[in-house]
Amino acid sequence: MERKVIISGANGFVGSHICEIALEKGFNVCAIVRNKSDLTYLKNLPIQLIEVSSISPIELGRAFRDYKDVNGEPDFFIHNAGLTKAKKADDFKRVNVNLTSYFLEAIKHTFPSLKKFVFMSSLAAHGPGDEKTMTEISESETDNPNTLYGKSKLEAEELVKNSGLPYIILRPTGVYGPRDKDYYLMLKTLLSGIDPQIGIKQQSISFIYVTDLAEALLTTLTHSVTNETFIISDGKSYTNKEYSSLAKNQLRVKAFILPIPQLLVLFIVRLVELFSSFSKKTPTLNYDKYLTMKAKNWKCSNMKIRTVTGWAPKINLDQGLKLSINWYKQNNWIK
Ligand SMILES: NC(=O)c1ccc[n+]([C@@H]2O[C@H](COP(=O)([O-])OP(=O)(O)OC[C@H]3O[C@@H](n4cnc5c(N)ncnc54)[C@H](OP(=O)(O)O)[C@@H]3O)[C@@H](O)[C@H]2O)c1
Repeated sequence: MERKVIISGANGFVGSHICEIALEKGFNVCAIVRNKSDLTYLKNLPIQLIEVSSISPIELGRAFRDYKDVNGEPDFFIHNAGLTKAKKADDFKRVNVNLTSYFLEAIKHTFPSLKKFVFMSSLAAHGPGDEKTMTEISESETDNPNTLYGKSKLEAEELVKNSGLPYIILRPTGVYGPRDKDYYLMLKTLLSGIDPQIGIKQQSISFIYVTDLAEALLTTLTHSVTNETFIISDGKSYTNKEYSSLAKNQLRVKAFILPIPQLLVLFIVRLVELFSSFSKKTPTLNYDKYLTMKAKNWKCSNMKIRTVTGWAPKINLDQGLKLSINWYKQNNWIK
C-alpha cells in the first residue's frame, strides 16, 4: 500500500527537494502551503496540495479534517517549514516555535495513528563546538545555541519531544544545492572578483548537499527508529579558504582574498540592519548570521545516523558545488 506523507514548508528550497525524493521513493505526497506561497518548484510535481491562508489552529483543524475525509490518516508528517532569518526576534518564536506547536496539536487531534513526525531542526539548535579542542559536535553533547534562530529551534525540539508522538529530529548543518539562495550569494561574491575572509582564525564549517539531506530524512521515515535526534552532514569539515578555493575552481574565477576584521563585519551588519529596517525584505546578513560566522567550530559528526540507519551521503562538496553551479547557470542565476 502507498505510504502517505504530508510535508510543511514543501515549496521552499529544502522542502521541494524532499517532495521530489519522496515521489521517487513511491510516497503519496501532500504539501501544506499558504495561499500566498510561491509554488514554482512544486508546479510540475504529482502531489496533492493543502492550501491555507495561514498556519493557525483553526485553519489546520479544518484542512486536516478535509484531508482525512478524502485520504484517511497520513502515515508520516514532515514539519520542515521554518524561518532561517528574521527581522525581529519575535518572528523566530512566532514561526519556529508556535507553528510547531500548532502542527503537533492538530496532528494529535486529527491523526492519532501517525507513525512518525519528523522535525527539521538545525545544527544551530546545538550551537557551535568547542573552539579550544575543535572536537566535532555530536548528539551526545550539551546544547548551547548561540543564535536566536538556534534557540527557537531548540525550543521547538522540546515541544516535539514532549508531544507524545513518535518523532525524529534532524539537525542538518549548512544545506546547499540547486534553488538555495544563501550559499548562492557567496558564489556571486566570488564571481565579482572578491573572496572575503573574516577574522584571523579560520572557521571550520560543514555541509550537506540538499538531496543527501532529503534521502537521510526519508531513510529515517521508513526505518524502525523513533524518538531520536540526528545530526546530518556529509561528514567532512572545511576551512573557509578550502571552501572558497573549491568554489573558485568550479566557477573558474580568480577572486582575490580580502581579509576583513571581525569588528568591521559587525559594523557592516549593524548598518545593513539599520537600512533594512526601512524595507520589507529580511537581509541575509544580520546579527544572528554574524554570530554564526564568528564561531570557529561547526565541525560535526554524522556517525549516529550512519550507524543507526545505514544512510550515507553520496555527494561530496566538490561534486555538490559543481551540480549547484550548473543549476544556477541553467536557470540564469549566474552567467
Ligand atoms: N538552508 C539551510 O542551510 C538549513 C540548515 C538547517 C536547517 N534548515 C531548516 O530547513 C527548513 C527549510 O529551510 P529552507 O532553507 O528550505 O528555507 P526556505 O527556502 O526559506 O523555505 C522555508 C519554508 O518554510 C515556510 N514558511 C516560512 N515561514 C512560514 C510561516 N509563517 N507559515 C508557513 N510556512 C512558512 C516557507 O513557506 P512560504 O514560501 O509560504 O514562506 C517555505 O516553504 C527550515 O526549517 C530550516 O530551519 C535549513
